[in-house]
Amino acid sequence: MTWRATVLTLFPEMFPGPLGQSLAGRALAAGRWTLAARNIRDYATDRHRSVDDSPFGGGAGMVMRPDIVDAAVAAVVDERPLIYLSPRGRPFTQASARSLSAGPGVVLLCGRYEGVDQRVVDAREMEEISIGDYVLSGGELAAMVVLDACVRLIPGVMGAAESALEDSFSSNLLEYPQYTRPAEWRGRQVPEVLLSGNHAAIAAWRQAEAERITKARRPDLWAAHTRGAEPSVARRSAGP
Ligand code: ADE
Repeated sequence: MTWRATVLTLFPEMFPGPLGQSLAGRALAAGRWTLAARNIRDYATDRHRSVDDSPFGGGAGMVMRPDIVDAAVAAVVDERPLIYLSPRGRPFTQASARSLSAGPGVVLLCGRYEGVDQRVVDAREMEEISIGDYVLSGGELAAMVVLDACVRLIPGVMGAAESALEDSFSSNLLEYPQYTRPAEWRGRQVPEVLLSGNHAAIAAWRQAEAERITKARRPDLWAAHTRGAEPSVARRSAGP
């Protein structure tokens, strides 16, 4: 079964955007997943095609109308999870990506302005997901982040080399640093041990580096690591 993504947005021309390139783009072209971006404005009913209105209770900005959003949702919903991208959502993690990528696909609702009327979020029992503690000007970039993280995990999308890397970091540690040729660059040497051919020594050095960097940069992750907590994240990305 092909993994299917549908995005509801006021800016469908933003898609596929970066998802049309590189790993995700090749997988899209190969038919390993599909992407449909639907314009929420197509479901507007008045002659101005308006999709938003001012917030009850006052305040700045506009709110997306529940009736219009609901009509857009109704046109696409099926068995796939329905997700509303919002800075108020639960944090998106590698575990979320893994779970979504194992299913039939996803329907992603992107808000603009001050967001979507809460009643349609509740009525449709949408899952609210945030990609981090910062506010984007709309859900589209967040939707792309979610899709990129999911698509690379679809079986057959990553090659063997990338999959191996993915699996190597699932213990609440940040990745160790990487080096390639030349062995000396601008007077900087690649760490000696990496040239030694001593696989045990290399593994020990990498582990120590991963621990040092995690302690320094992510005390929260370090605490989870030392606690032996279930990782919510596999920390290694395949890279460019
Ligand atoms: N929309 C605006 N900011 C967002 C965020 N941080 N995560 C998900 N959707 C968003």
